[in-house]
Amino acid sequence: MKDYIQGNKEAWEEAFEHRHSDWGERNYERLLKERLPFFHSDVIKEFETIDFTDKTIAQFCCNNGRELLSLMQLGARNGVGFDIAENIIEQARDTAQKAGIDNCIFEACNILEIPEAYHHEFDFVMFTIGAITWFDDLKPLFQKVSDCLKTGGLLFIHDFHPVMNMLPMPGEPDFDEKSLNKIVYSYFRSEPWIENDGMGYMSEQYPSKTFTSFSHTISDIINAVSAAGMRVVRMQEYDYDIGLTDAYDKKGFPLSYLLVAEKQQEKQQKG
Ligand SMILES: C[S@@+](CC[C@H](N)C(=O)[O-])C[C@H]1O[C@@H](n2cnc3c(N)ncnc32)[C@H](O)[C@@H]1O
Repeated sequence: MKDYIQGNKEAWEEAFEHRHSDWGERNYERLLKERLPFFHSDVIKEFETIDFTDKTIAQFCCNNGRELLSLMQLGARNGVGFDIAENIIEQARDTAQKAGIDNCIFEACNILEIPEAYHHEFDFVMFTIGAITWFDDLKPLFQKVSDCLKTGGLLFIHDFHPVMNMLPMPGEPDFDEKSLNKIVYSYFRSEPWIENDGMGYMSEQYPSKTFTSFSHTISDIINAVSAAGMRVVRMQEYDYDIGLTDAYDKKGFPLSYLLVAEKQQEKQQKG
């Protein structure tokens, strides 16, 4: 495993140890009561065009499993959630049990090392909010997705738009709420983002182990998906943020996107 990936595993596990009290503990209640909790209405609209009946589905970088468990409501036969953080995966298993969902399992592993037993297993592989940023190179990541999909299976991504990485976030010195058209970071940034103050949405701030993440451009994403033998069938861009700040919403920036790609028939080896 690459050093930065091992580092991220330790940082995510530490963030879980520092989680806000009862973070994720009551997700099962929403799973029992609500239809497709945890998803934006635009994502639900897209899900409604897909037939999940009897399908085998997966989420890569599933965190505490809330989204995959929610998606199981649409009739999939089996689900598998993969995430590198062992303690967060334990919470996913606990939530599944409390919500009475017994056809969805969770595996703690690095996505790039998902065992071959899962190759050609899935009809649907999903990444959501803040998932692909943890990989320096998208080619092996999407190759693993392609390996795990059956022919005709779908890759589904709902994530921050790469343009978000150009904007200063509230709390950063360059952020100015009166001047929201400032571009601070390069779209083509190649150096990693290094963060050492916890994981905002799940934990308090503390001097944390190092989180290392990466910017990717839209062409990085499309080219890596295509190179792995998947055909983009739909892409949507939205002018609202899905988890960091609403400061830039509806101001003309693309802040989130959704992409669906279909795994093509593998070419026969010659000779
Ligand atoms: C921001 S979270 C995803 C949150 C999820 N979309 C949600 O809303 O619940 C990103 C997840 O990626 C996981 N992760 C980071 N690097 C990984 C890797 N190499 N393999 C598997 N999981 C990884 C982290 O442990 C973390 O749970």
